[in-house]
Amino acid sequence: MSPFVGMPNEASQTALAPVIGVLVSGRGSNLDALFRAVDRGELRARIGLVISSRADVPALGIAQARGVPVRVIAPKSYSSRAGAGAAIVEALRAAGVELVVLAGYKPILDACVVQAYPYRIVNVHPSLLPAFAGGMAPRPQADALAAGVKLSGCTVHFVTEQVDEGPIIAQAAVPVLDDDTVETLSDRILAEEHRLLPLAVALVLSGRTRIEGRRVFIAPECEPAATGR
Ligand code: GRF
Repeated sequence: MSPFVGMPNEASQTALAPVIGVLVSGRGSNLDALFRAVDRGELRARIGLVISSRADVPALGIAQARGVPVRVIAPKSYSSRAGAGAAIVEALRAAGVELVVLAGYKPILDACVVQAYPYRIVNVHPSLLPAFAGGMAPRPQADALAAGVKLSGCTVHFVTEQVDEGPIIAQAAVPVLDDDTVETLSDRILAEEHRLLPLAVALVLSGRTRIEGRRVFIAPECEPAATGR
């Protein structure tokens, strides 16, 4: 008899990993960063479904190349935002999704999605929130340049019903250089998004995040053992 009977192999470990659903609208570079973090073993999860708000976007090709099921749920095909929201919730639940990641997802999510996944939806935004909230890329980057700030960056936050106002999980700052254009600043921020988003998703899945009001506290990886003294 094999000495390994009863021990989980790699495939069954993947099957047991928490399932993530990723919502996208375009290029998909953050989706790709999530896949790569899973590949490296830094994000112990399985991307089980990718939903796009638009057909024919590169993000769908990235998911399909990975053999991950995709759905196109275009808000404009529904008579209301709530209708599209209900379709999203149904698809996420059918795929067994536990945590939802908005990775360059453009439409405003209907409240029914937020209510179905309370504090189980995270978003990446290309500014240091609460600065330059509300706009879609590249507006936050353009607004940062126009405002003359010397630092910008990205934020990963929990999604609540108030757009870009949910509790902040992690932020990364980048300098704004004198010769920056919207494109060069966006590229510098994007590199940080690719690093920060998988890290924040892994943190949330680890159960080490605790939310108090608008603040997120992160417990250390290992609590030191009490000495009794
Ligand atoms: C990113 O800058 C993200 O922060 C913003 O939209 C952009 C999407 O890029 N919400 P990608 O589709 O992940 O490449």
